[in-house]
Amino acid sequence: MTKIIAPSVLAADFANIQRDIEMINNSEAEWIHIDVMDGVFVPNISFGFPVIKAMQRHAKKTMDVHLMIVNPDQYIETFKSVGADILTVHYEACTHLHRTLQAIKAAEMKAGVALNPHTPISVLEDVIRDIDLVCIMSVNPGFGGQSFIENTYKKVIQLKDMIEKSGSNAKIEIDGGVTDQNAHKLVSAGADVLVAGSFVFKAEHPAKTIKDLKALANS
Ligand code: DX5
Ligand code: ZN
Repeated sequence: MTKIIAPSVLAADFANIQRDIEMINNSEAEWIHIDVMDGVFVPNISFGFPVIKAMQRHAKKTMDVHLMIVNPDQYIETFKSVGADILTVHYEACTHLHRTLQAIKAAEMKAGVALNPHTPISVLEDVIRDIDLVCIMSVNPGFGGQSFIENTYKKVIQLKDMIEKSGSNAKIEIDGGVTDQNAHKLVSAGADVLVAGSFVFKAEHPAKTIKDLKALANS
């Protein structure tokens, strides 16, 4: 199965968001990764509904929305209405994770769960068959441009094993510090989707960087 590149617009130029979304549309990226931060679950605030809605007006790729917020349940329908195709919540923010996943699917979105670097894969054992996407955080959430945490490889291998043994269809997404230095090794360990913010948007030629990263991931 072809490995997916998901550029993170957290690293885009918000004063030129249409231009940057069109760059993604015209690139080999399949998804657009959209980071929502509330200043409570993580020590940073990114953007909210009007901005996501504006992105949706231009986006032609799958909108992969990563919620770094507390109480995500109250906004599930609203995220659907502003264009989310995939809605990922944090394990650490959901007391009733199973219920939250069912609510996301009832709203006709794919349901994702993100795990912080300190959270073991084993916590997903009893819900893995209900999940469409597991986002393994390879940095502490809240900021772009951080260094990749090496312990991630071990977690990818463990998760791949859990998915295969359980018969789950969940995809494995890696989020944080992804570059051409770790892309191939991540995919070899079992990753399906690579999120890349700074590596894409700080590059001189972002569309070519996406193309090269995709080629590496599929080599
Ligand atoms: C971190 C976000 C990431 C971030 C990745 O909290 O969830 O999606 O945008 O950015 P880079 O690729 O720069 O680490
Ligand atoms: Zn993210």
